Amino acid sequence: SLRVAILISGGGSNMLALVRSMTGDHPARPVLVASNDPGAAGLARAAELGVPTAAVDHRPFRGDRAAFEAALSEKLDAARPDILCLAGFMRILTPGFVAGWEGRMLNIHPSLLPLYPGLDTHARALAAGDTEAGCTVHEVTAALDDGPLLGQARVPVVPDDTPADLAARVLTMEHRLYPAVLRRFASGDRSPVHLS
Ligand code: GAR
Repeated sequence: SLRVAILISGGGSNMLALVRSMTGDHPARPVLVASNDPGAAGLARAAELGVPTAAVDHRPFRGDRAAFEAALSEKLDAARPDILCLAGFMRILTPGFVAGWEGRMLNIHPSLLPLYPGLDTHARALAAGDTEAGCTVHEVTAALDDGPLLGQARVPVVPDDTPADLAARVLTMEHRLYPAVLRRFASGDRSPVHLS
């Protein structure tokens, strides 16, 4: 079966959904969860599920992204992943790193891309008066929050939603979308998944 590594920066709820989905006849299995934050809560949660973990603190590298990525790559390469999933990984990756994973790296983003790349997606959707929001899984290319679409899920915006309300509604869909996309992708099918 294919080997999957997952990069996280925080709580790792998407990582948990991915790990839990890789059972039974699934074409892939989790081989590593790694983080740029040694204190990321998701690392402990992955370890509880028996998945190997690694941390490479980005802070001592003081903005030298290539050096940080070299250290991260050592941990990744040791796990020999076929697929790399970004799941709430909050560091921008250099074109050099991305090139090494071309066609094998996925990301989940909390908006209906191409709308709202970057941060604060839910506040921006509300400020724009959008009646619909959602999340996107895409192949990672050197351009931030860009690359071939692998899946999208839509949720309604409800009157008086706060950014936190909307984030929670979208996150529930993220937990369905990302496992559905990974299963399809790992089986060699790159046609996009659509949920609503
Ligand atoms: C998720 O909403 C994910 O889409 C978002 O961060 C959250 C991580 O939650 N990702 C980004 O904003 C990427 N720039 P999680 O740690 O519980 O999966």
